[in-house]
Amino acid sequence: MIEQLEIDRSVRQWLNEAADLIQTELKMARYQVSQKTGPTDLVTTVDQQIEVFFADKLATFYPTHQLVAEEDPTHKHQTFSGVTWILDPIDGTLNFIQQQADYAISLAIFEDGVGQLAYIFDVERRTLYSCKVGEGVFVDGVQVERRRPNPSLAESTLIMNFGIIAANYLGLATAGAQARSVRLYGVASLEMAAVITGRADAYLSRHLMPWDIAAGFIMANELGLKISRIDGTEINVLKSGSLLIASEQVHETLLHDFIMKN
Ligand code: IPD
Ligand code: CA
Ligand code: CA
Ligand code: CA
Repeated sequence: MIEQLEIDRSVRQWLNEAADLIQTELKMARYQVSQKTGPTDLVTTVDQQIEVFFADKLATFYPTHQLVAEEDPTHKHQTFSGVTWILDPIDGTLNFIQQQADYAISLAIFEDGVGQLAYIFDVERRTLYSCKVGEGVFVDGVQVERRRPNPSLAESTLIMNFGIIAANYLGLATAGAQARSVRLYGVASLEMAAVITGRADAYLSRHLMPWDIAAGFIMANELGLKISRIDGTEINVLKSGSLLIASEQVHETLLHDFIMKN
């Protein structure tokens, strides 16, 4: 078993140092932006710096642990082996660049494929969502109580990405129209955190990568939330794909009354 306590202590310190680094770069406007696959797929020098920061920490303190992360092509692994850290150095890069808010560092640690530790750090708010499996989920040290009781779709707030809404993909925009409200923040980890803490009742997205969902996946399982691909199938966190995270009744309604029928 990994040394949960020791790793947790280190990670919290590193997250704070990484957040300081991000905010300093932002304040000094020292970073550069470049395109990856196109004009909506941007990366900054800060994304890369934060990934290097964690890669260096791993190489120094946990050299046998493997790293899966977004920016460096060498940080890619298709299988779990021993201890695996899954990192999104900045989730919500577009928000970071344009809004300078609503972006996060997302980090999950798995041992032989089993989730052990998870962190989603909302950098601008300095809010830390954390989970040691078996001990619950915490927001800045305060335990997340079981979410508000299992609401119906009509009582729910859904978060969906714009592609789903624009295409009424699998009837999900129609479902959104029957819900209490729909929100969209553009940062998968914090959108999952909203469901985890009960500020929303479901989040749906397509084309997410392991680093977008890994930390939220561990937290959702810890709280007994429903988490699957949009078609209801099981998630392998090392693969890319869609996401449907919701409380039980909403998950069931979206799946059976909309997704399966469209
Ligand atoms: C993106 C954000 C966004 C989601 C995209 C992700 P990035 O991550 O989480 O909300 O819709 O699919 O790629 O690129 O900003 O780390
Ligand atoms: Ca990206
Ligand atoms: Ca991301
Ligand atoms: Ca990212």
